[in-house]
Amino acid sequence: MRAFQRFSSISLLLCLLIVCQIVHYSRGQFIDDLETDPDDEEDESVEDETPEEKAARKNIQQDSNLPVDKLIAKYGYPAEVHYVTTEDGYILTMHRIRRQGAQPFLLQHGLVDSSAGYVIMGPNISLAYLLADYKYDVWLGNARGNRYSRNHTKLDPDGKKFWDFSWHEIGIYDLPAMIDYVLKSTGFKRIQYAGHSQGCTAFFVMCSRRPEYNKKVIMMQAMAPAVYASETEEHPYIRAINLYFRSLVGSSVTEMFNGEFRFLCRMTEETERLCIEAVFGIVGRNWNEFNRKMFPVILGHYPAGVAAKQVKHFIQIIKYGRFAPYSYSSNKNLALYKEHIPPRYNLSLVTVPTYVYYSSNDLLCHPSDVEAMYKDLGNPKGKYLIPMEEFNHMDFLWAMNVRKLVYARMLRVLGKITDHKKGNSTNSLANKNVPQNRRRRR
Ligand SMILES: *[C@@H]1O[C@H](CO)[C@@H](O)[C@H](O)[C@H]1NC(C)=O
Ligand SMILES: *[C@@H]1O[C@H](CO)[C@@H](O)[C@H](O)[C@H]1NC(C)=O
Ligand SMILES: *[C@@H]1O[C@H](CO)[C@@H](O)[C@H](O)[C@H]1NC(C)=O
Ligand SMILES: *[C@@H]1O[C@H](CO)[C@@H](O)[C@H](O)[C@H]1NC(C)=O
Repeated sequence: MRAFQRFSSISLLLCLLIVCQIVHYSRGQFIDDLETDPDDEEDESVEDETPEEKAARKNIQQDSNLPVDKLIAKYGYPAEVHYVTTEDGYILTMHRIRRQGAQPFLLQHGLVDSSAGYVIMGPNISLAYLLADYKYDVWLGNARGNRYSRNHTKLDPDGKKFWDFSWHEIGIYDLPAMIDYVLKSTGFKRIQYAGHSQGCTAFFVMCSRRPEYNKKVIMMQAMAPAVYASETEEHPYIRAINLYFRSLVGSSVTEMFNGEFRFLCRMTEETERLCIEAVFGIVGRNWNEFNRKMFPVILGHYPAGVAAKQVKHFIQIIKYGRFAPYSYSSNKNLALYKEHIPPRYNLSLVTVPTYVYYSSNDLLCHPSDVEAMYKDLGNPKGKYLIPMEEFNHMDFLWAMNVRKLVYARMLRVLGKITDHKKGNSTNSLANKNVPQNRRRRR
């Protein structure tokens, strides 16, 4: 039975990947139809719907269609859009919740995500708003290739050359460009930084390959850092994706996962449930923290597009068990790196004080891998295993109780809330929201 389930989930994912690609290549029709006609969904209107239900549904619909800056403005925060050009010509979009004169804080999203990841759950839940409430000047990055950063001074985003990058380039070009831009526009000398998943991977690449950037960051909050991945090897979906890359369709793919799910997953209740299960299959299953009402909003913003090479590079880390630059043929490696296999990134060169948040049901980022990485960092300041067994890779952004489970801790690490004596501190958000079992150490 287990084997069958595994088999069917792999087939499901393979089908999804292939259908995605078909949808992708026919973007012109499907996606544009969806995007140019948001009122289409009016027809779904449920009979016997109360005015409140109708308003809630319209609100969800609106949140799933608005671009990040409009979404931020909708909730009453001052939103800005900035464009940053990297040394190698990629034009990145940054979103900002402006607080002039306050300490700038850069948030960097994970694989197939965008700046939206930090806002879609709305004020009082999503991290960007929380940091804004705590008086930070919040900047949201978008890595090259996602829907907000699909532009270049010379290269055509629809051409093959544009997509020849991985998170290595995001680390050595995008993050430095965004950090310098933020420092220049605010006049500050250093930023605060938080990353989710690939937002950590790229950060560590930057700090190890361009160590001068260590000085520009006060502290790194690393959520679900996908860096070491020896425990991920048996992940059935990763195998399926690997298989897909070796197939006829998959081998020529350069760009992936930009909004296609939106069309597929919302056809019926059942496809929606299957899609959520497919996501859980990748990131870890946790229905309890998943707000199904918000799934249309998630689908409106996620996945936001990546280069196939980014995914392939992660697969290499998993397969070879080494955190190293992209590996080509032995000859090309020799030419590029002067060795037959690429030399590892040296994590001891990451001297930014780093605090790590990780969880036991994160299928992409196993606790023992995170702990191994933690030991290798140049300046580790603490690690926090989320006190909920089922907490998964995406719960760091999507969980209903993410604020009390993760962000309250982060605010404390940042010195924004102080623990008075244990068992007291009625005023602190931390203690109000953190569940009883928080202090159960593992
Ligand atoms: C956020 O919480 C505050 C107080 O806890 C409340 O006044 C406000 O309405 C909430 N905002 C949203 C959008 O729910
Ligand atoms: C891409 O960047 C160029 C140069 O800055 C700009 O003129 C153009 O409008 C941008 N295209 C998109 C789709 O954002
Ligand atoms: C990594 O960097 C540290 C600090 O500079 C150095 O001592 C060490 O030899 C380096 N390790 C490798 C494998 O290059
Ligand atoms: C908790 O601290 C507040 C002031 O910070 C104090 O008024 C209150 O009596 C304390 N409660 C307990 C149970 O210690």
